[in-house]
Amino acid sequence: LSSTEVDLAPIAAGQAVTVMWRGKPVFVRNRTAEEVQAARATPLSELKDPAPDQGRVQRDQWLVVVGVCTHLGCVPLGQKSSDPRGDYNGWFCPCHGSHYDTSGRIRKGPAPTNLAVPEYSFTSPTQIRIG
Ligand code: FES
Repeated sequence: LSSTEVDLAPIAAGQAVTVMWRGKPVFVRNRTAEEVQAARATPLSELKDPAPDQGRVQRDQWLVVVGVCTHLGCVPLGQKSSDPRGDYNGWFCPCHGSHYDTSGRIRKGPAPTNLAVPEYSFTSPTQIRIG
């Protein structure tokens, strides 16, 4: 399948789901207002791979990123709010300790770049199509 549909309605605030797209996991996270605020408040000068949060999302609440650590390709943890989410409350890669923020941007550890944002579009207010 070249595209994957995701129903957003069941994803509670603060939670994420993992879907498979072209053989890779994609994380779809329903960000809380606090998580959006944290991403927006971060100065670009603090980022290893500077990218404004606004350019990484289509709607503030929904973050969609490829769930493959940009270091050596492990799948980071952080889908459930009870998972380890690292020092920046995003995702934590347990393989070598990379910490990603609530925009999926690399903040600490060996990963060189942010989690990738795949091509996707909203097909309704509660549905996206990835790819
Ligand atoms: Fe994620 Fe190395 S693969 S930190």
